[in-house]
Amino acid sequence: MTLAPETDLGTPAVPGDPTLTVTIDGQTVHVAPGTSVLRAAGLAGVSIPRLCATDSLAAFGSCRLCLVEIDGAKGTPASCTTPCTDGMSVETRTPQVEALRRGVMELYLSDHPQDCLGCARGSCEVQRSAADVDVAEVRYGLAGRSHVDDAGDHTNPYFAYDPAACIVCSRCVRACSEVQGTFALTVAGRGFDSRITPGGTDFLSSECVSCGACVQACPTSALEEKSVIELGMPTRAVVTTCAYCGVGCSFRAEVQGEGADTQVVRMVPWKEGRANEGHSCVKGRFAFGYAAHPDRQRHPMVRDRIDEPWRQVSWDESIARVASGFRDIQARHGVGAIGGISSSRCTNEEVYVVQKMVRAAFGNNNIDTCARVCHSPTGYGLNQAFGTSAGTQDFESADHADVFLVIGANPTDAHPVFGSRLKRRVRAGARLIVADPRRIDLVRSAHVEAAYHLPVRPGTNVAFVNALAYVVVTEGLVNRAFLDGRCENVEPYLQFIARPEHSPEATEQITGIPADDVRAAARLYAAGPASAIYYGLGVTEHSQGSTMVMGMANLAMLCGMLGRPGVGVNPLRGQNNVQGSCDMGSFPHELPGYRHVSMPEVRHVYEDLWGVTLPAEPGLRIPNMFDSAISGSFRGLFVQGEDIAQSDPNTQHVHAALQAMDLVVVQDLFLNETARFAHVFLPGTTFLEKDGTFTNAERRLGRVRPVFPSFVGKDEWQVACEIATAMGYPMGYGHPREIMAEIAATTPTFAGVSFDRLDTQGSMQWPVRDDTSMGTPIMHVDEFVRGRGKLTETVYVPTTERTTRRFPLILTTGRILSQYNVGAQTRRTPNSIWHPADVLEIHASDAELRGVHSGDVVELASRVGSTTLRAVISERMPPGVVYTTFHHPVTGANVVTTDNSDWATNCPEYKVTAVQVTVATSLEHTRGVEAHAGSVVAP
Ligand code: SF4
Ligand code: SF4
Ligand code: SF4
Ligand code: FES
Repeated sequence: MTLAPETDLGTPAVPGDPTLTVTIDGQTVHVAPGTSVLRAAGLAGVSIPRLCATDSLAAFGSCRLCLVEIDGAKGTPASCTTPCTDGMSVETRTPQVEALRRGVMELYLSDHPQDCLGCARGSCEVQRSAADVDVAEVRYGLAGRSHVDDAGDHTNPYFAYDPAACIVCSRCVRACSEVQGTFALTVAGRGFDSRITPGGTDFLSSECVSCGACVQACPTSALEEKSVIELGMPTRAVVTTCAYCGVGCSFRAEVQGEGADTQVVRMVPWKEGRANEGHSCVKGRFAFGYAAHPDRQRHPMVRDRIDEPWRQVSWDESIARVASGFRDIQARHGVGAIGGISSSRCTNEEVYVVQKMVRAAFGNNNIDTCARVCHSPTGYGLNQAFGTSAGTQDFESADHADVFLVIGANPTDAHPVFGSRLKRRVRAGARLIVADPRRIDLVRSAHVEAAYHLPVRPGTNVAFVNALAYVVVTEGLVNRAFLDGRCENVEPYLQFIARPEHSPEATEQITGIPADDVRAAARLYAAGPASAIYYGLGVTEHSQGSTMVMGMANLAMLCGMLGRPGVGVNPLRGQNNVQGSCDMGSFPHELPGYRHVSMPEVRHVYEDLWGVTLPAEPGLRIPNMFDSAISGSFRGLFVQGEDIAQSDPNTQHVHAALQAMDLVVVQDLFLNETARFAHVFLPGTTFLEKDGTFTNAERRLGRVRPVFPSFVGKDEWQVACEIATAMGYPMGYGHPREIMAEIAATTPTFAGVSFDRLDTQGSMQWPVRDDTSMGTPIMHVDEFVRGRGKLTETVYVPTTERTTRRFPLILTTGRILSQYNVGAQTRRTPNSIWHPADVLEIHASDAELRGVHSGDVVELASRVGSTTLRAVISERMPPGVVYTTFHHPVTGANVVTTDNSDWATNCPEYKVTAVQVTVATSLEHTRGVEAHAGSVVAP
């Protein structure tokens, strides 16, 4: 793709039919009522100079460059703030407006860096506009009072502010408030003294969350990426998909150079990306430097024992070693003694090939994925209720919601672009209920205030959702027509939920939420008219995670909040491709498309195509693999792109399991914690090298396109194919598009997906049942995928993880905006400036009781282990609950989490661990960091 700027029509699109006819410079155009003259001109192919207007922001009308003349109207109105009327006739280039524009432009240039007219930077709209209005010189001269020597702000690691180039158009201020919703910027001073300021401090110390929206909106180089300042403008662009979270933002990777010499200059969120519509967060926009980090491993390595140094070898030798090692284990211990874990960071095509390798070459169903430890209860619960293991809506649906019920999710940190969208809708009038033990940002932030914050005690979600449903049922708020027309098991469920033990008064002692608040929240949700549930790992990572998912589905069905815009039950997925890795058959009981391995008609599809006999019995889940490894029956593991030694609960147990195995193969970017226990290390590729697709939280398949060739000489799908082939099962594809073709040919929900269609028609949300379908933004519109929606009696069973006198606090874990998951990528970028270490958030009363002050080193201990970290006294925490993140391996937060898990899916109960906190003398971590992964000896 060339680097032509994206089309900008000046003001946002207005919904509605194009009922108005307008003539602009003789061109006729039809537009919807409310459309600005500036936008109408753009649609008619007429360009009007402008500086303060851009189509991602509401019109502001400050620069006075977009003046026009309108037949029958007085003066020269600003076209950006003037709405079209039917029959309007507009002239944009009369001598009068051209003279006025030149005068305005000269004023701007008189207080601007002197190189502006000859500036070679390609991104400056001032320069473009100067040429457009034909200003070649400034009559006022450049010698007067100006801002050209004002001090800049270089504190942000990724972008700089240069007041000399600032024209005070306020686009940055408006982007920060309208698009991002942070309201970090203001215009300080008046007239000549006006200056953009992040709240009277510098960018780094301010409220700024480094989303970059202001940089993108800036028409000059006043706000500019440091990478552009350092490297100069990019020369071409590749449209691809972010590899961090499940929002799945589209980006233009803007680069210089070709082939292996390609350098990413900047990532610019793509306006046409349907998941993000031109917005991004700090991770996707700026934290891509890990791809070229010196820690990247570029060569395969082997060693006989895990206490030996690594030895670099050729790809052939490493693959032969993997294949012979696995075959040897199977010969000695049986076909089921090996297995694989696929990665939710990899493409659908890579994941599909890994599960095929396990099923066809390993000959068993011992394939699992990191979704096991995050959203497996979503898959189970939504499948039980609706017949599909995925969220019900597209993100755009949120723009139609009247009420949001956000449970156990922290979108502004973990799904920031969706968080901005949600806040925008709340600012426009939607009501918000936040159910979370912590006082997360959504509860109260700039211009956003939740109607109710319900600090549900960790481990009691099911009692809470049952209480909401109780109110709906007993107060007559049920949508009877929806239940009768579309649901099953209605009467037994209604009788169950109306039992007195589910009342808010009865559950208050369990959940800690005042009964009146539960009643009010339930009434608000039921009243809608469009109420949407969004949830995260605070729902799923519990011993009753699957029950809670079904409980939320019950609530939505009770109120008829499904099958239309603005409603639904929506998981906010963690990893970029966790939806896709589940879709692709990464679970030990399901073939691609969530079809159980026991279904002969589905197995036959693959048996015929692959030429093998597939086992009808489910294989081992990750925790079963660990248990079997410790008991000696499971001896070999292929781990693709997941750091199980850090991310999985009860670290000691995981380490013991890995140490017990004969052959651990790790494929990853870096020598991670799991690599400490590996015998073969296969270097992986970043998203900037991959060719394929990711599927985001709204079931949207987006293209991932290679920006430069693989650093390691192979693509990951090729490696899996070569291992399978070396094990005696020939497997190969010429290109990832052929893998997608196989997926489409064998999986009805993907039947209409192909690289060609994604490249020409854009992203699609599955199901895409044939070549004519563009996918399914909203599911279950007329009927549920399973026919009738199923209400399930969701009995609350308290977790066995209880507080005791020895462990009187509950630990819950989560994420922070700037870091990602185990931090392998973000810690290798300047993002670490914001979160250099994990900390323990604790309520003031709990801290006082223990003599803990903010900044103290404390020991965090549970019945399974302990670690040390610094404490921060936080108003976000309720008494009795502490919180930490797990972004830094040195902290080893999962040393203290237990191996309790969801009854249906074994998803770990990360969110509930009974702990004690005591003052410690020094940071003595339980184990080392990635440096321990082993020294390397060159061949
Ligand atoms: S920094 Fe850029 S966007 Fe902000 S007011 Fe100045 S010129 Fe406009
Ligand atoms: S980077 Fe984002 S949060 Fe920071 S000032 Fe700019 S728009 Fe606001
Ligand atoms: S919101 Fe998620 S997908 Fe979007 S840029 Fe941020 S990390 Fe990437
Ligand atoms: S673009 Fe219309 S006033 Fe600035």
